[in-house]
Amino acid sequence: FAPRHLLSIADLTPAEFATLVRNAASHKRAIKSGAIPQSLIGSLSGKTVAMMFNKRSTRTRVSTEAATVQMGGHPMFLGKEDIQLGVNESLYDTSVVISSMVSCIVARVAKHSDVADLAKHSTVPVINALCDSFHPLQIIADFVTIYESFTPKAHSLSSLGLEGLKIAWVGDANNVLFDLAIGATKMGVDMHVATPKGYEIPADMVDLIQRSGEGVPTPGKLTQTNIPEEAVKDADILVTDTWVSMGQEEESKKRMKAFEGFQITADLAQRGGAKEHWKFMHCLPRHPEEVSDEVFYSPRSLVFPEAENRLWAAISALEGFVVNKGKIVE
Ligand code: CP
Ligand code: NVA
Repeated sequence: FAPRHLLSIADLTPAEFATLVRNAASHKRAIKSGAIPQSLIGSLSGKTVAMMFNKRSTRTRVSTEAATVQMGGHPMFLGKEDIQLGVNESLYDTSVVISSMVSCIVARVAKHSDVADLAKHSTVPVINALCDSFHPLQIIADFVTIYESFTPKAHSLSSLGLEGLKIAWVGDANNVLFDLAIGATKMGVDMHVATPKGYEIPADMVDLIQRSGEGVPTPGKLTQTNIPEEAVKDADILVTDTWVSMGQEEESKKRMKAFEGFQITADLAQRGGAKEHWKFMHCLPRHPEEVSDEVFYSPRSLVFPEAENRLWAAISALEGFVVNKGKIVE
């Protein structure tokens, strides 16, 4: 029996993605009102979740550990100084050994091929906690945030009722953007991306994003430009992320220069003609160059609820992939 893994939002049907988002939102409401769903209580009892993290993390680490504990399980954090992860031992050996002792592996690695290799040889579900191409737990949380902040239309199980919304991404084309765009395509949300020249979404990723809309009645559309104002036009949500992702530190100087003029500010939103009610999102950690304090700490900013939603996203993903063994149901 091969376990089901969560490496990208691309691994999910639109109905499964929408269900993970809705389950996260409903568990959040229930737990915050003191009514813990019966199906969650002790659902990971006696189970260990191995967290193999090759890179730093605040939100992903804390949300995964807290989610595991809330479900009665034991999170085992294994940092890069603690275990042999692609160093001194093959990923194959590590994967076979660790998966023989735990119920789930949550892994943060550099290359997508590393988390894919772990998954290939693991006998338990592997959940991607960020690699250079994807960040599915972040995107579940982001759609919980959008679902809570914009009034969803009446919708079927395979949608969130967010069709027609427009997200403007201004900044670097990175892991968070790729999975966000895949989720947006599946949910009928348009994605308008502005990056500096030379930093566009690679062609194979554009292809994957567009293929994610197959079978969706009105898939979200992806457009790209090098002009921030163009992306921002008519946007409901402005989003960005760091200009220098983990592992790109050596390019820092060059990137700072290339991204000049790409800071999200109230003035950019005004000049570009964002919708009057526009909101701001960011996966964090944030640096002032990519978004002004004025926007980041304003009532338009959803960043702190978005960060909190990482907890509810982690509960939903652990429930779907570990408790329910990959069967994503309401
Ligand atoms: N957004 C996010 O994944 O944050 P961390 O890197 O702190 O986990
Ligand atoms: N793009 C960032 C996201 C961190 C959560 C990185 O990969 O470092």
